[in-house]
Parts: sequence; C-alpha cells; structure tokens
Amino acid sequence: MNLKGKSAIVTGAGRGIGREICAALADHGVKVAAVDIKDSLLAETAALLQSKGVEVKSLVANVARGEDADKVCDEVAGAWGRIDILVNNAGITRDGLVLRMKDEDWNAVIDVNLKGVFNFTRSAARFMVRERSGRIINIASVSGLMGNAGQANYAASKGGVIALTKTVAKELASRNVTVNAIAPGFISTDMTAALPEEVRKRMLEVIPMRRMGEPKDVARAVIFFAGELADYVTGQVLVVDGGLLM
Ligand code: NAI
Repeated sequence: MNLKGKSAIVTGAGRGIGREICAALADHGVKVAAVDIKDSLLAETAALLQSKGVEVKSLVANVARGEDADKVCDEVAGAWGRIDILVNNAGITRDGLVLRMKDEDWNAVIDVNLKGVFNFTRSAARFMVRERSGRIINIASVSGLMGNAGQANYAASKGGVIALTKTVAKELASRNVTVNAIAPGFISTDMTAALPEEVRKRMLEVIPMRRMGEPKDVARAVIFFAGELADYVTGQVLVVDGGLLM
C-alpha cells in the first residue's frame, strides 16, 4: 500500500474508531490532520500519533458548521499543498423511540452525522477536484442499511450518508475522486460501552462471528479504500460487521 507522504483529514479523531483510523494512516506514512470538537480528546490522539514519525495537526472543529469545515480544509491544503484523503467519521447517537423523540435529538444527530459529512465533503472536494485526485471515505453504519428500533434519527442520518456517498461518487468520478462508505456493525468503543449490558448481550447473539468488532477492523477498511488496491472502486458500501447483516 503506497500511501507514504499523502495527507489526510479525519473527523471525530478524538477517540474510538476515528483515533484508530488516524493511527493506521500514520502507520502507512500519511500526514494526518485530526479533527474533533473536543480539545482534550484531540490531545490524546496527537500524543499517540507523535510517536509515529509523521506530520500531525490537531484541529478543533464542529463538523456541523460549514465554516469550520472550510477553515480546516483551507489550513490543511495551505500547509500540505493538497488533501488526498478525507475520512468523515464524526458521529453521535441520541437514541429513543420515534413516538417520544424530541426535535432537538433528531436535529442534533442529522446535523452532525449527515450535514457534517456534506460540509467536509464540499470543502475538501474543491481541492481534490483541482488536483484531479482524491479519496473520500464516509463512516456510515449497518443501521443506515437495515434500520434499528430506537435509532430513527441515527439510522436516517446514516442512510443519508450512503445516498450522499453514491451521489458524490457519481459527480466526482470523472475527476478521479472516489467516494466510498464503510458500514460498521457493532464496534467496541465508548459509544457502544454506553449501551445497557442487556442490549450488548442480545447483539452478540445475532452476530455470526460472536464478537464485537474492534476499531482496527474499521481502520483496515479505510486503508483499503485510501490505497491503490481500490483505484477503480467508487460509490460502494463495505459492511464490516462480523456477518450481522447478510
Ligand atoms: P465515539 O463516540 O467513541 O467517537 C466519536 C468522536 O466524534 C468523539 O471523539 C467526538 O468528540 C467526536 N465528535 C462528536 N461530535 C462531533 C462534532 N460535531 N464535530 C467534530 N467531532 C465530533 O464513536 P465511535 O464509536 O468511535 O464512532 C465513530 C463513527 O463510527 C461514528 O460516525 C459512528 O456513528 C460510526 N459507527 C460506530 C459504530 C460502533 O459500534 N461504535 C457502529 C457503526 C458506525
């Protein structure tokens, strides 16, 4: 995988899957701009990346704000000359049954998970189109493909990310910019640690591989889409879920 010297932006890089994606890219010699809304989490990610001998930037930004996306992309392209890889990973949950779902919980999840992907895609694509080269990798979810009771907002946002992925793939294909999505199943992070033990137990029973995924399982799929093995792959959704959705 020849990714050495390329530059990447990873959103939601402060912990969990985003942090692991940053580490995997850095291990492949990629310069990484780690973006998160939480400064304190970014500091931990930066400390991990520092030991890997690549240039690193820690940028505090809220993906839901278009101006933040523009600022991050301008800064990265200004410093490193180009944006080769964008990983839209930032995401939140505000679970609840649809009959009781509050407007604020619907709006917050759509703003971060769907509008956030749009914001960073629009900002970064401007630079990628100019270079006639780029990789956009969106972290969706199996919830966006199969639905999930209690996650109307989250599943709708992730289904939207998948439709957005395919649309932007069609728009940018002729400029040699590929756009793909990864749909993880049940991955062991702080996000899933917050679920009740009962729910976790039930999930494990329906995963054919009988284990939760690890953040590195998702990071490996990112490396595939970022590298030359995926040169001719665009508009696809790679499900990484231990067989949950078949
Ligand atoms: P996490 O909650 O551990 O980490 C998410 C990171 O995003 C945090 O560092 C948080 O501060 C950051 N973030 C939240 N809102 C932000 C905003 N407005 N702007 C910038 N950064 C923001 O979550 P996890 O588990 O690592 O998930 C990462 C992605 O993978 C999310 O998009 C999630 O929906 C998706 N995913 C996770 C699964 C799982 O089982 N953990 C399954 C399927 C998809």
